[in-house]
Amino acid sequence: MNNMYRIISNELIAYKTFKMVLFGDTSKITAPGQFINIKIDSANTFLRRPISISDYDCNTMTIIYKVFGEGTEILSKKKQFEELDVLGPLGNGFTVQEDKKKQLLIGGGVGVPPLYSVAKELHEKGLEFDVVLGFQSKYDVFLEGAFRALGANVYVATMDGTYGYKGHVLNVIEMKNLYYDYYYACGPEVMLHALVNTEKEGQLSFEERMGCGFGACMGCSHKTLTSYKRICKEGPVLEANEVYIDEHSH
Ligand SMILES: Cc1cc2nc3c(=O)[nH]c(=O)nc-3n(C[C@H](O)[C@H](O)[C@H](O)COP(=O)(O)OP(=O)(O)OC[C@H]3O[C@@H](n4cnc5c(N)ncnc54)[C@H](O)[C@@H]3O)c2cc1C
Ligand code: FES
Repeated sequence: MNNMYRIISNELIAYKTFKMVLFGDTSKITAPGQFINIKIDSANTFLRRPISISDYDCNTMTIIYKVFGEGTEILSKKKQFEELDVLGPLGNGFTVQEDKKKQLLIGGGVGVPPLYSVAKELHEKGLEFDVVLGFQSKYDVFLEGAFRALGANVYVATMDGTYGYKGHVLNVIEMKNLYYDYYYACGPEVMLHALVNTEKEGQLSFEERMGCGFGACMGCSHKTLTSYKRICKEGPVLEANEVYIDEHSH
């Protein structure tokens, strides 16, 4: 399951946010929203770092990541032609619904990248969808043009109001009175929980902290209404109607 990928490019596209294109085997990718676990060589980072697959074709894969700590900092310094040790594709990914009339993609911050491959599949299948993206400020915004190029109406919200609508994604949905009968979402847990509380049908991707990344350690175990699920294996995507919200966690 682990493969070597060659870096084709690694460029800054927004504040502390990098887009990396990798060359290698993509034949095992089965669904949009799957992720890879990247080995980072450093004394302090023996764990791999999970990053979503944002886009892929027959031999390249694109990831978009934000520099948070040491692991992603090291990744951001990688140069063209260097090799990366990658485990994956991992996780279940999103299941695109073909029988829904109007679908909505809702992404917050580093939750935006996996939604791009969902958008591509919706577009290829001729399905109608809008996109709502939330970021902290105008310097953080990315992929807006890419979603627009797929023919979607794209609404951007920033918390500080420096770009698009001021506020978070749910404020925009309310303000614009956006109609949708199904949604796909990825972003901070509080955003995902707020969406679950709307009681609409949808799928949400949880970016839980992980250990092994392939189902062996239970480190990513997440309580659902039916059972505990390993986010790396039975997730990261859960159906909205199975998400358990612990009211004391907020
Ligand atoms: C399935 C999955 C998909 C992901 N996809 C992406 C993606 O496409 N792009 C992207 O930028 N990031 C993504 N992440 C988050 C990414 O894995 C973390 O940002 C990264 O592991 C941080 O590593 P680090 O060594 O730089 O930081 P660390 O030194 O490990 O941590 C620095 C800070 O980052 C935050 N952090 C670390 N891990 C996570 C996490 N899993 N979720 C939220 N916050 C975290 C913590 O607040 C911590 O204080 C994903 C995570 C998961 C589980
Ligand atoms: S991270 Fe080890 S089981 Fe999910």
